[in-house]
Amino acid sequence: MINMILVIGAFGQLGTVLTEKLQVKWGLNRVIASDLVSKADFNGHFETLDATDFKALEQIVTKYKITEIYHLAAILSANGEKFPLHTWDVNMTSLFNVLEVARIHKVNKVFYPSSIAVFGDKIERVNTPQSPNLTPATVYGISKVSGEIWNNYYYNKYGLDVRSLRYPGVIGYQSLPGGGTTDYAVDIYHKAVKNESFECFLEATTKLPMIFMDDAIRATIELMDAPIEDINVRTSYNLSGMSFTPKELYHSIKKIYPDFKISYKPDFRQNIANSWPKSIDDSSARNDWEWKPAFDLDMMTELMIQKLKEYYNSITV
Ligand code: NAD
Ligand code: SER
Repeated sequence: MINMILVIGAFGQLGTVLTEKLQVKWGLNRVIASDLVSKADFNGHFETLDATDFKALEQIVTKYKITEIYHLAAILSANGEKFPLHTWDVNMTSLFNVLEVARIHKVNKVFYPSSIAVFGDKIERVNTPQSPNLTPATVYGISKVSGEIWNNYYYNKYGLDVRSLRYPGVIGYQSLPGGGTTDYAVDIYHKAVKNESFECFLEATTKLPMIFMDDAIRATIELMDAPIEDINVRTSYNLSGMSFTPKELYHSIKKIYPDFKISYKPDFRQNIANSWPKSIDDSSARNDWEWKPAFDLDMMTELMIQKLKEYYNSITV
Protein backbone atom coordinates (compact mmCIF):
# COMPACT_ATOMS: atom_id res chain seq x y z
CA MET A 1 0.00 0.00 0.00
CA ILE A 2 1.22 3.53 -0.82
CA ASN A 3 1.91 5.62 2.27
CA MET A 4 0.29 9.10 2.25
CA ILE A 5 1.25 11.38 5.11
CA LEU A 6 -0.68 14.32 6.58
CA VAL A 7 1.18 16.72 8.91
CA ILE A 8 -1.13 18.98 10.96
CA GLY A 9 0.59 22.09 12.36
CA ALA A 10 3.29 21.73 9.70
CA PHE A 11 4.64 25.28 9.98
CA GLY A 12 5.33 25.26 13.72
CA GLN A 13 8.71 24.74 15.38
CA LEU A 14 8.66 20.94 15.06
CA GLY A 15 6.43 20.71 11.99
CA THR A 16 8.80 22.76 9.83
CA VAL A 17 11.62 20.27 10.34
CA LEU A 18 9.53 17.08 10.51
CA THR A 19 7.69 17.88 7.27
CA GLU A 20 10.97 18.34 5.41
CA LYS A 21 12.37 15.07 6.81
CA LEU A 22 9.20 13.19 5.83
CA GLN A 23 9.38 14.69 2.32
CA VAL A 24 12.94 13.40 1.99
CA LYS A 25 11.94 9.98 3.35
CA TRP A 26 8.71 9.44 1.37
CA GLY A 27 8.94 11.87 -1.56
CA LEU A 28 7.37 15.30 -2.10
CA ASN A 29 4.11 13.85 -3.49
CA ARG A 30 3.49 11.62 -0.47
CA VAL A 31 3.46 14.37 2.18
CA ILE A 32 0.61 16.86 2.67
CA ALA A 33 1.49 19.76 4.94
CA SER A 34 -1.37 21.60 6.65
CA ASP A 35 -1.66 24.55 9.00
CA LEU A 36 -3.98 27.45 9.79
CA VAL A 37 -2.32 29.67 7.17
CA SER A 38 -0.09 28.96 4.19
CA LYS A 39 3.54 30.01 3.76
CA ALA A 40 4.79 31.62 0.55
CA ASP A 41 8.19 29.86 0.44
CA PHE A 42 6.91 26.32 1.18
CA ASN A 43 7.96 23.66 -1.31
CA GLY A 44 5.43 20.80 -1.44
CA HIS A 45 1.72 20.04 -1.13
CA PHE A 46 -0.16 22.27 1.28
CA GLU A 47 -3.76 22.47 2.53
CA THR A 48 -5.12 25.18 4.79
CA LEU A 49 -6.70 23.40 7.76
CA ASP A 50 -8.16 24.30 11.12
CA ALA A 51 -7.92 20.91 12.85
CA THR A 52 -10.89 21.75 15.09
CA ASP A 53 -13.06 21.53 11.93
CA PHE A 54 -13.87 17.81 11.51
CA LYS A 55 -15.40 18.13 8.02
CA ALA A 56 -12.38 20.05 6.67
CA LEU A 57 -10.01 17.43 8.11
CA GLU A 58 -12.10 14.57 6.74
CA GLN A 59 -12.12 16.16 3.28
CA ILE A 60 -8.30 16.23 3.20
CA VAL A 61 -7.98 12.67 4.53
CA THR A 62 -10.32 11.29 1.86
CA LYS A 63 -9.00 13.52 -0.96
CA TYR A 64 -5.42 12.26 -0.52
CA LYS A 65 -6.25 8.79 0.87
CA ILE A 66 -4.15 9.57 3.94
CA THR A 67 -2.58 6.56 5.71
CA GLU A 68 -0.51 8.31 8.39
CA ILE A 69 -1.22 11.49 10.42
CA TYR A 70 1.27 13.55 12.46
CA HIS A 71 -0.92 15.75 14.68
CA LEU A 72 1.37 18.55 15.87
CA ALA A 73 -1.16 21.37 16.26
CA ALA A 74 -1.60 22.58 19.83
CA ILE A 75 -1.48 25.64 22.05
CA LEU A 76 1.63 25.30 24.23
CA SER A 77 2.20 25.72 27.98
CA ALA A 78 2.83 29.44 28.45
CA ASN A 79 0.31 30.70 25.86
CA GLY A 80 -2.16 28.11 27.16
CA GLU A 81 -2.25 29.70 30.62
CA LYS A 82 -3.46 32.97 29.11
CA PHE A 83 -6.64 31.33 27.70
CA PRO A 84 -7.17 28.04 29.60
CA LEU A 85 -10.61 27.05 28.25
CA HIS A 86 -9.73 27.96 24.68
CA THR A 87 -6.53 25.91 25.00
CA TRP A 88 -8.46 22.90 26.27
CA ASP A 89 -10.94 23.29 23.42
CA VAL A 90 -8.32 23.55 20.65
CA ASN A 91 -6.04 20.81 21.99
CA MET A 92 -8.81 18.31 22.72
CA THR A 93 -11.18 19.02 19.80
CA SER A 94 -8.34 18.71 17.29
CA LEU A 95 -7.20 15.43 18.87
CA PHE A 96 -10.73 13.94 18.89
CA ASN A 97 -11.10 14.94 15.24
CA VAL A 98 -7.83 13.21 14.37
CA LEU A 99 -8.70 10.05 16.33
CA GLU A 100 -12.20 9.86 14.84
CA VAL A 101 -11.14 10.54 11.26
CA ALA A 102 -8.40 7.93 11.65
CA ARG A 103 -10.87 5.37 13.05
CA ILE A 104 -13.56 6.01 10.45
CA HIS A 105 -11.23 6.13 7.43
CA LYS A 106 -8.90 3.37 8.63
CA VAL A 107 -5.74 5.48 8.80
CA ASN A 108 -2.84 3.11 9.60
CA LYS A 109 -0.85 5.19 12.10
CA VAL A 110 -1.18 8.41 14.08
CA PHE A 111 1.61 10.35 15.82
CA TYR A 112 0.70 12.48 18.85
CA PRO A 113 3.29 14.63 20.63
CA SER A 114 2.93 14.75 24.40
CA SER A 115 5.20 16.68 26.74
CA ILE A 116 7.15 16.88 30.01
CA ALA A 117 4.22 19.13 31.02
CA VAL A 118 2.17 16.00 31.91
CA PHE A 119 4.04 15.62 35.21
CA GLY A 120 3.05 17.61 38.31
CA ASP A 121 4.03 17.96 41.96
CA LYS A 122 3.47 14.27 42.83
CA ILE A 123 6.56 13.05 40.98
CA GLU A 124 10.20 12.29 41.60
CA ARG A 125 11.71 15.28 39.73
CA VAL A 126 15.07 13.67 39.07
CA ASN A 127 15.04 10.81 36.58
CA THR A 128 11.23 10.98 36.45
CA PRO A 129 9.90 7.51 35.66
CA GLN A 130 7.55 6.52 32.85
CA SER A 131 4.30 6.25 34.78
CA PRO A 132 4.18 8.16 38.05
CA ASN A 133 1.12 10.04 39.34
CA LEU A 134 0.27 12.60 36.68
CA THR A 135 -1.17 15.82 38.15
CA PRO A 136 -0.14 18.54 35.67
CA ALA A 137 -0.11 22.19 36.76
CA THR A 138 -1.12 23.75 33.42
CA VAL A 139 -4.13 23.39 31.14
CA TYR A 140 -1.66 22.40 28.41
CA GLY A 141 -0.37 19.55 30.62
CA ILE A 142 -3.93 18.48 31.48
CA SER A 143 -4.78 18.34 27.77
CA LYS A 144 -1.66 16.28 27.03
CA VAL A 145 -2.39 13.73 29.81
CA SER A 146 -5.98 13.46 28.61
CA GLY A 147 -4.73 13.05 25.04
CA GLU A 148 -2.40 10.24 26.10
CA ILE A 149 -5.25 8.40 27.83
CA TRP A 150 -7.59 8.82 24.86
CA ASN A 151 -4.87 7.49 22.55
CA ASN A 152 -4.56 4.43 24.77
CA TYR A 153 -8.35 4.02 24.65
CA TYR A 154 -8.48 4.19 20.84
CA TYR A 155 -5.68 1.63 20.61
CA ASN A 156 -7.38 -0.80 23.00
CA LYS A 157 -10.94 -0.32 21.77
CA TYR A 158 -10.44 0.16 18.01
CA GLY A 159 -6.90 -1.10 17.38
CA LEU A 160 -5.85 2.37 16.13
CA ASP A 161 -2.05 2.46 16.04
CA VAL A 162 -1.44 5.78 17.83
CA ARG A 163 2.16 6.38 18.93
CA SER A 164 3.38 9.17 21.14
CA LEU A 165 6.45 10.80 22.71
CA ARG A 166 6.69 13.09 25.73
CA TYR A 167 9.06 15.61 24.17
CA PRO A 168 11.32 17.61 26.46
CA GLY A 169 11.88 21.29 25.49
CA VAL A 170 12.87 21.16 21.82
CA ILE A 171 15.75 23.37 20.66
CA GLY A 172 16.35 24.06 16.98
CA TYR A 173 17.71 26.76 14.67
CA GLN A 174 15.15 26.26 11.90
CA SER A 175 12.28 28.27 13.41
CA LEU A 176 11.22 30.15 16.51
CA PRO A 177 9.26 28.40 19.28
CA GLY A 178 5.53 28.98 19.72
CA GLY A 179 4.76 30.09 23.28
CA GLY A 180 6.25 27.45 25.57
CA THR A 181 8.10 27.55 28.88
CA THR A 182 11.32 26.17 27.37
CA ASP A 183 11.45 28.89 24.65
CA TYR A 184 14.25 30.72 26.48
CA ALA A 185 16.68 28.00 25.42
CA VAL A 186 16.12 28.89 21.75
CA ASP A 187 15.85 32.68 22.18
CA ILE A 188 19.18 32.85 24.03
CA TYR A 189 21.12 31.58 20.97
CA HIS A 190 19.55 34.23 18.71
CA LYS A 191 20.63 36.96 21.16
CA ALA A 192 24.18 35.58 21.42
CA VAL A 193 24.62 35.43 17.64
CA LYS A 194 23.24 38.97 17.25
CA ASN A 195 25.75 40.15 19.93
CA GLU A 196 22.93 41.22 22.22
CA SER A 197 22.54 40.50 25.93
CA PHE A 198 19.80 38.11 27.10
CA GLU A 199 17.15 38.54 29.82
CA CYS A 200 16.03 35.09 30.98
CA PHE A 201 12.45 34.55 32.20
CA LEU A 202 13.55 31.59 34.37
CA GLU A 203 15.92 31.57 37.37
CA ALA A 204 19.58 30.68 36.77
CA THR A 205 19.27 27.30 38.52
CA THR A 206 16.06 25.98 36.92
CA LYS A 207 17.04 22.62 35.49
CA LEU A 208 14.74 21.24 32.76
CA PRO A 209 14.87 18.33 30.30
CA MET A 210 15.68 19.48 26.76
CA ILE A 211 16.42 17.88 23.41
CA PHE A 212 18.11 19.06 20.22
CA MET A 213 15.75 19.21 17.22
CA ASP A 214 17.71 16.59 15.22
CA ASP A 215 17.31 14.10 18.08
CA ALA A 216 13.61 14.94 18.55
CA ILE A 217 12.85 14.39 14.86
CA ARG A 218 14.94 11.20 14.68
CA ALA A 219 13.10 9.85 17.75
CA THR A 220 9.76 10.59 16.07
CA ILE A 221 10.70 8.76 12.89
CA GLU A 222 12.29 5.83 14.75
CA LEU A 223 9.17 5.45 16.90
CA MET A 224 6.89 5.52 13.85
CA ASP A 225 9.11 3.01 11.99
CA ALA A 226 9.34 0.55 14.91
CA PRO A 227 7.55 -2.80 14.45
CA ILE A 228 4.12 -2.70 16.11
CA GLU A 229 5.02 -5.57 18.46
CA ASP A 230 7.85 -3.44 19.96
CA ILE A 231 5.49 -0.64 21.05
CA ASN A 232 4.57 -1.43 24.65
CA VAL A 233 3.64 2.08 25.83
CA ARG A 234 0.34 3.23 24.36
CA THR A 235 -0.03 6.41 26.41
CA SER A 236 3.26 8.19 25.59
CA TYR A 237 6.95 7.34 25.87
CA ASN A 238 9.25 9.37 28.14
CA LEU A 239 12.03 10.79 25.97
CA SER A 240 15.31 12.23 27.15
CA GLY A 241 17.99 14.26 25.39
CA MET A 242 19.88 16.32 27.99
CA SER A 243 19.14 18.44 31.07
CA PHE A 244 20.57 21.86 31.94
CA THR A 245 19.90 25.14 33.75
CA PRO A 246 19.91 28.61 32.12
CA LYS A 247 23.27 29.21 33.83
CA GLU A 248 24.79 26.05 32.35
CA LEU A 249 23.46 26.98 28.91
CA TYR A 250 24.92 30.48 29.31
CA HIS A 251 28.35 29.02 30.14
CA SER A 252 28.19 26.73 27.13
CA ILE A 253 27.51 29.77 24.88
CA LYS A 254 30.26 31.80 26.61
CA LYS A 255 32.84 29.27 25.37
CA ILE A 256 32.13 30.72 21.89
CA TYR A 257 31.04 34.27 22.86
CA PRO A 258 33.15 35.13 25.97
CA ASP A 259 31.56 38.63 26.29
CA PHE A 260 27.96 37.37 26.19
CA LYS A 261 25.85 38.75 29.08
CA ILE A 262 22.76 37.30 30.80
CA SER A 263 20.36 38.66 33.44
CA TYR A 264 17.47 36.88 35.15
CA LYS A 265 13.91 38.20 35.51
CA PRO A 266 11.62 35.25 36.31
CA ASP A 267 7.95 35.68 35.33
CA PHE A 268 4.84 33.44 35.45
CA ARG A 269 6.70 30.75 33.47
CA GLN A 270 8.92 30.10 36.52
CA ASN A 271 5.96 28.45 38.32
CA ILE A 272 5.30 26.28 35.28
CA ALA A 273 8.96 25.21 35.10
CA ASN A 274 8.97 24.47 38.85
CA SER A 275 6.23 21.88 38.28
CA TRP A 276 8.21 20.02 35.61
CA PRO A 277 10.90 17.32 35.98
CA LYS A 278 14.62 18.10 36.05
CA SER A 279 15.53 14.95 34.17
CA ILE A 280 13.72 12.02 32.57
CA ASP A 281 14.07 8.25 32.76
CA ASP A 282 13.47 7.10 29.19
CA SER A 283 14.45 3.47 29.65
CA SER A 284 11.16 2.21 28.12
CA ALA A 285 11.99 4.00 24.85
CA ARG A 286 15.59 2.73 25.01
CA ASN A 287 14.45 -0.86 25.64
CA ASP A 288 11.46 -1.02 23.28
CA TRP A 289 12.81 0.69 20.14
CA GLU A 290 16.46 1.35 21.01
CA TRP A 291 16.22 5.12 21.51
CA LYS A 292 19.53 6.90 22.16
CA PRO A 293 20.12 10.68 21.91
CA ALA A 294 23.19 11.88 20.00
CA PHE A 295 23.56 15.52 21.14
CA ASP A 296 24.84 16.91 24.45
CA LEU A 297 24.79 20.58 25.46
CA ASP A 298 28.12 21.70 23.94
CA MET A 299 27.54 19.82 20.66
CA MET A 300 24.15 21.47 20.37
CA THR A 301 25.57 24.93 21.18
CA GLU A 302 28.21 24.62 18.47
CA LEU A 303 25.69 23.65 15.80
CA MET A 304 23.05 26.19 16.90
CA ILE A 305 25.56 29.03 16.71
CA GLN A 306 27.04 27.88 13.40
CA LYS A 307 23.59 27.60 11.75
CA LEU A 308 22.21 30.84 13.21
CA LYS A 309 25.33 32.72 12.10
CA GLU A 310 24.81 31.40 8.57
CA TYR A 311 21.16 32.47 8.75
CA TYR A 312 21.78 36.02 10.03
CA ASN A 313 24.64 36.51 7.53
CA SER A 314 22.37 35.41 4.69
CA ILE A 315 19.65 37.95 5.54
CA THR A 316 22.03 40.89 6.03
CA VAL A 317 23.95 40.37 2.76
P1 NAD B 1 4.22 25.45 17.54
O1 NAD B 1 3.33 26.30 18.36
O2 NAD B 1 5.51 25.98 17.08
O3 NAD B 1 3.44 24.94 16.25
C1 NAD B 1 2.10 24.53 16.29
C2 NAD B 1 1.52 24.72 14.90
O4 NAD B 1 0.16 24.30 14.94
C3 NAD B 1 1.54 26.19 14.45
O5 NAD B 1 2.10 26.29 13.14
C4 NAD B 1 0.07 26.60 14.45
O6 NAD B 1 -0.26 27.51 13.43
C5 NAD B 1 -0.61 25.26 14.23
N1 NAD B 1 -1.97 25.24 14.76
C6 NAD B 1 -2.41 25.76 15.93
N2 NAD B 1 -3.73 25.56 16.04
C7 NAD B 1 -4.13 24.89 14.94
C8 NAD B 1 -5.36 24.37 14.49
N3 NAD B 1 -6.49 24.54 15.18
N4 NAD B 1 -5.40 23.72 13.30
C9 NAD B 1 -4.27 23.53 12.58
N5 NAD B 1 -3.07 24.01 12.95
C10 NAD B 1 -3.01 24.67 14.12
O7 NAD B 1 4.42 24.08 18.34
P2 NAD B 1 5.66 23.07 18.24
O8 NAD B 1 6.68 23.54 19.18
O9 NAD B 1 5.99 22.83 16.84
O10 NAD B 1 5.00 21.79 18.89
C11 NAD B 1 4.39 20.79 18.08
C12 NAD B 1 3.76 19.78 19.01
O11 NAD B 1 4.77 19.22 19.85
C13 NAD B 1 2.69 20.37 19.93
O12 NAD B 1 1.65 19.45 20.07
C14 NAD B 1 3.42 20.54 21.24
O13 NAD B 1 2.55 20.43 22.31
C15 NAD B 1 4.40 19.39 21.21
N6 NAD B 1 5.59 19.65 22.03
C16 NAD B 1 6.46 20.65 21.68
C17 NAD B 1 7.56 20.88 22.47
C18 NAD B 1 8.56 21.97 22.15
O14 NAD B 1 9.49 22.20 22.94
N7 NAD B 1 8.43 22.65 21.03
C19 NAD B 1 7.78 20.10 23.62
C20 NAD B 1 6.85 19.12 23.96
C21 NAD B 1 5.76 18.89 23.13
N1 SER C 1 8.40 23.06 25.26
C1 SER C 1 7.03 22.90 25.61
C2 SER C 1 6.53 24.07 26.35
O1 SER C 1 7.36 24.74 26.94
C3 SER C 1 6.89 21.65 26.45
O2 SER C 1 5.79 20.96 26.03
O3 SER C 1 5.36 24.28 26.39
